[in-house]
Amino acid sequence: MKYYLAFIVLVFIGCSETKVSKTEDNTTEQFIDSLLTTMSIDTKIGQTNLRGTSSRAKTLSEELKEDVRQGNVGALLNVMNVEFVDELQRIAVEESPNKIPLIFGRDIIHGFKTIFPIPLGLAASWDTATAKASSRVAAIESSSVGIRWTFAPMLDIARDSRWGRIAESPGEDPYLASVLGKAYVQGFQGDSLNDPTSIAACAKHYIGYGAAIGGRDYNTTIISEPILRNVYLPPFKAALDAGAATVMTAFNEINGIPATGNEYLLKDVLRDELKFDGFVVSDWDSVVEMITHGFAKDEKQAAELAANAGMDMEMTSKAYEHHLKELIKEGKITEHELDEFVKNILRIKLRLGLFKTPYRDKNRDTNFYAKEHLAEAKEAAIKSAVLLKNKNILPLSTSTKVALIGPLADAPLDQLGTWIFDGEKEHTITPLDAFKTADINFKYIPALTHSRDKSKKQFKKVINDVKGADVIVFVAGEEAILSGEAHSRANIDLPGAQEDLIKELAKTGKPIVLVIMAGRPITITNIIDDVDTVLMSWHPGTMGGEALQEIIFGIREPEGRLPVSWPKAAGQLPYFYNHKNTGRPASKENYTAMDDIPVGAWQSSLGNKSHYLDVGYTPHFPFGFGLGYTDFTYDNLQISKDTIGFNEDLVMKVSIKNTGKRAGKEIVQLYLQDIVGSITRPIRELKGFQHVSLKAGETKELTFKISSEQLEFTNHKIIRAAEEGDFNIWIGPNAASGLKKSFYLKKK
Ligand code: BGC
Repeated sequence: MKYYLAFIVLVFIGCSETKVSKTEDNTTEQFIDSLLTTMSIDTKIGQTNLRGTSSRAKTLSEELKEDVRQGNVGALLNVMNVEFVDELQRIAVEESPNKIPLIFGRDIIHGFKTIFPIPLGLAASWDTATAKASSRVAAIESSSVGIRWTFAPMLDIARDSRWGRIAESPGEDPYLASVLGKAYVQGFQGDSLNDPTSIAACAKHYIGYGAAIGGRDYNTTIISEPILRNVYLPPFKAALDAGAATVMTAFNEINGIPATGNEYLLKDVLRDELKFDGFVVSDWDSVVEMITHGFAKDEKQAAELAANAGMDMEMTSKAYEHHLKELIKEGKITEHELDEFVKNILRIKLRLGLFKTPYRDKNRDTNFYAKEHLAEAKEAAIKSAVLLKNKNILPLSTSTKVALIGPLADAPLDQLGTWIFDGEKEHTITPLDAFKTADINFKYIPALTHSRDKSKKQFKKVINDVKGADVIVFVAGEEAILSGEAHSRANIDLPGAQEDLIKELAKTGKPIVLVIMAGRPITITNIIDDVDTVLMSWHPGTMGGEALQEIIFGIREPEGRLPVSWPKAAGQLPYFYNHKNTGRPASKENYTAMDDIPVGAWQSSLGNKSHYLDVGYTPHFPFGFGLGYTDFTYDNLQISKDTIGFNEDLVMKVSIKNTGKRAGKEIVQLYLQDIVGSITRPIRELKGFQHVSLKAGETKELTFKISSEQLEFTNHKIIRAAEEGDFNIWIGPNAASGLKKSFYLKKK
C-alpha cells in the first residue's frame, strides 16, 4: 500500500513542471518519505554506496549485478559501456527491492568527447558564456551514453602553480571563480535537471584543497576562518546558489580535521548556512584515508566520523557498507541520520527525473564531435589564449615563411590536457594539422620528441633547417601528464631540453614566437629575452590547433587574460595578487636587489621590505594581464559620490579607447581596496569586469556599479559586514594598474 502511494506521488512529479517549485518540493518530500518507509536499513545503506568500476571493463561482473539486485548500490562511476549501463539500470529498477534507479557518474571536467581548454584555460576567457557553453556541450554528449552526474565543476581557489590540479581550477580569484562556477553549473544542469540532456553538477572539492602547503597534492591545509569565508567559500556558495545538485568533500585536512569528517564544514556551513539540500559525496577513498590522516583508528571509526559529520555517499571505499548497520545498532549513529543521507540522495535522483525516465534514450544521437560543439571548443580556445609578450611579431602575414618547431606542435593527446578520459586524440587538430589545412608556407621540424626529451642530438640539424624561415613558431610546454591530480612540480620551467633549444634558436637572430601549451603557468624568466612573442594557450583541447593558427595569422586575436599571477620563479609561490600589505610592503623605491648589497655589508634589516633579494616582489605577469593586437587607453574615471551610505550603490564611469589600427577586445577590470578593517584587508580585490569590443579609434564609456554588499567581508569574529571607512577603487586592464579613485562608506 505504502509503495502504491509512493507510485501515485511519483506519477504526479513526473507530470509536474521541472523547476524546483514549492509544490514540487512538497511532492518530492512526500514521495521520498513514503519510499523510505518501504526501505530496509540495508537498502538505505545501499543508497549511500557509490561503487567505482573500471571504464575499460570488458565484461559486466556478476558480483556487481548481484549487488545492484540486492539494493546494495546507489550510484556507479565510470561504467562506460552503454550496454552495461542499460543492464545495471534495468536490474535496479526492475529487480532491486525498492526499484530505485542508479545514477551513473563520470569525471567530465572540460568536455566529454569534444574537449575544451583545461578549466584554468577556460577561466582565462573570463567569459561566463564560454564556461557555460563548455559544460552544456559536455552534458549533451555525456548524457547520451547514460551519464547523469559529473564530478565538476572544480572550484578550488589555486594560488600555487606548482600544484598539478591548478590545471582543473578556476584560478586564484574568488570573484572570477564564483561567476564561472555559476556558469558551469547552469551549463551542466541546463534549465531543468530532469531534461535528459542535463547532468547533475558536483561542486568540488569542499574545501580548501588548493591550499595544499607547498603546492604538493593532498597536503595539509591551514586556513583561518576569515580566509575560508573570504577566499575559498565564495565559489561554492555561487555554485550552490545556481542549484548545484551535489558537493564532493576534499582529500585534505583543514586545520587538523579531514574535510570528509568535518562536521562544522558539512553541517554548520554547508547545510545550515548555505542551505544545501542535495547530497554530499566523499572523494575517492577519502573516508578510509581518514585512517592514514591519523583521524580515525580504523574503518569503523572512519564510517562513524564521516556519518556524524553529515557525509551522504561514500565513493569507492566501503566503510559505510561494512559498518553503518552496526554503528546504528550501537547507537553511535541514528537511523534518522541515515534517513537524511538517503533523502538527500533520492531528492537528486528525483530531480534528475530518473524515477520516471531511468534509461538513456537509445535513439538519441550522441552528438559526439558535432559541428557546433567543435565550433564552441575552437571559440573557447581563442578566448582562453593569453598573449603575454609581443614585439610586433604577431599576427604574421600569410606570406611569412614559418619554421614550426617544438614538442607540442603535433601532440594530439597532450594538447587535450588532464582529465580527458573520453576525448580521443584522433579527433584533435594540432597546430601542424591546422597549418597544413590552411595552406601556410611552413616547414615542420620535429626537434624534440616530447616535452621531457633531453636529447640535443637534433639541435644542429634544426638550426640548419630553420635557415630558410622568416619566423620560428616554437610550440613548447608540458605533456598533459605533468599536471593534474598528483602531478605537482617543484620546478615549473619548461622541462627537457626546450630552454636549451630556444637559446640555440635565438642565436640565429630569427624572431621566435613561443607558444606554450601547459597545465599551469610556466616560469620563462630564463628565456623571456630570447623570444619575441609569448602566447599561452594552456592545454587548448580538440580544436586548439585551428584556434592557434587563426590567432597566429591574425584572423582572430588572442582574447584571454590571466586567471592566476604568473610567477618569475617557483620560489615565489604561493603568489596571489590579493595579498595583504604587510607592515613593510615592497615598492620600486625601496627595493634592494641582491646585486645592490655591498660585499661585506653589515647585518641590517633597515630599509628592507617584503621582497625577495633575487626575484623582487612582483610576478612576471600580473593577474588579469593579457595583450591583444591593438592598444587601449583608459581615461576619465568618474564616481557618482565621494561618500556612500550602507545599502547605497557607487556608480563608476570610465572611457576606453582603442588607440590601435585594428578592432579589438578588452576585458575591463574593477578592483577595490578596503584600506582599514577590523582584520587586515587585501591590497586589491576583483569586484567586477566587462568585455568591450572597440573598432580602431573608437571610444566607449562603460558604467560599473558596486553595492555596499560587495564591500562585505567576514572578520575574525565571523561577522560578515561592510565596515565604515575609506576605500580605493581601480578600473584597468589588470591587477597591477588602472585609474584610481577613492570613496568613503559611511554609517547613517
Ligand atoms: C579526484 C576527484 C574525482 C574522483 C573520481 C579523485 O581522485 O580527486 O576529483 O572526481 O577521483 O574520479
